[in-house]
Amino acid sequence: MDRYAVFGNPINHSKSPFIHTLFARQTQQQLTYEKIEAPVDDFVGSIRRFFAEGGKGANVTVPFKEQAFQLVDQLSPRAKLAGAVNTLKLTDDGLLLGDNTDGAGLVQDLKYHLEELTGKKILLLGAGGACRGVMGPLLEQHPSEIVIANRTAAKAEQLAQEFSAMGKVRASQFAELNEAFDLIINGTSASLAGAMPDIPEAVIGSATVTYDMMYGSKETVFNLWAKEHGAIKTIDGLGMLVCQAAESFAVWRGIRPGTRQVIRELRRNLT
Ligand code: ATR
Repeated sequence: MDRYAVFGNPINHSKSPFIHTLFARQTQQQLTYEKIEAPVDDFVGSIRRFFAEGGKGANVTVPFKEQAFQLVDQLSPRAKLAGAVNTLKLTDDGLLLGDNTDGAGLVQDLKYHLEELTGKKILLLGAGGACRGVMGPLLEQHPSEIVIANRTAAKAEQLAQEFSAMGKVRASQFAELNEAFDLIINGTSASLAGAMPDIPEAVIGSATVTYDMMYGSKETVFNLWAKEHGAIKTIDGLGMLVCQAAESFAVWRGIRPGTRQVIRELRRNLT
C-alpha cells in the first residue's frame, strides 16, 4: 500500500492522519498515513530514510517547513513564493518535489465562507512564516488591498515589500490602524498563548468578517474580541487545516476529496 506521513516535532497531536484516513476512505484510495516525530537535528535523515523505504509523499509541519524548502530537488511556484514547503512528493524518476498548500487551503476555506475575495480590503495580522505562506494565494484572488500589520513593524514592511509586485500591499503599525476592513485574518501565534494582538477596535466595521488561523474547542481569543466589537462573522482555522490537507491529497493522488464532512467530524472530536 502507498505510504504517506507527516513529519514534525512535536507531532503527537497532529490531526493529519485522521484527516487523510477519512479522505482515503471517501475517495476509495488505498494508502497509509502515519505521523513521524523527526529529531530536531535530523529532519533530513528522517525524510531520506522514509523515501528510501518506499514512502510516496509527506507533509511537513513545525519546525521543519524551511528545511524542507532547502531539501527538495524541485519547488512549485507557490512553494517558492511561500519560502516554505509543507508537501513532499516523490516522482517515479526519484525526484523529490516540494509544494506548499497552506495558502491554497486558506483561500479555499475563505471562498467557502465568503464566496468572493475579489475587491475585498484585507487586514493580515502577523508577518511570520504562516503569513508569508498565504500572501501569494491571497493576492491571486485580487483583493482591493492587503494591509500587513505586525507587532514588529519592520517584519511587516519587509513582507509588504516582497509581495508588492503581485498587488496592492502595504504595511502598518498596529496603533496606526484606523479604518474598517472587509476581512481580518489573524496569522499571529498570539492565540496560542491566549493573547490578543494589540490592535484598535476601529478595524471592525459593520460588515467585517474575521478569520483566525488558530482553532480550538472554544472560540479563539481573537474571534471573541472581534465578535464583541461587532464582527458579523468569525471563522476559525479548522477549515484551513482540512483544506490544505485536501490540496496535498490532490497533489499526491490526483483526486480532490470533499472537506466539509471531515471538518464537521474533526469539530465533534475537538477537546
Ligand atoms: P508562524 O510560523 O506561526 O508564523 P512565527 O514565524 O514565529 O510563527 O511568527 C509568529 C507571528 O506571531 C509573528 O508575526 C509575531 O510577531 P513578531 O514578529 O512581533 O514577533 C506574532 N505574535 C506572536 N505573539 C504575539 C502577540 N502576543 N501579539 C502580537 N503578535 C504576536
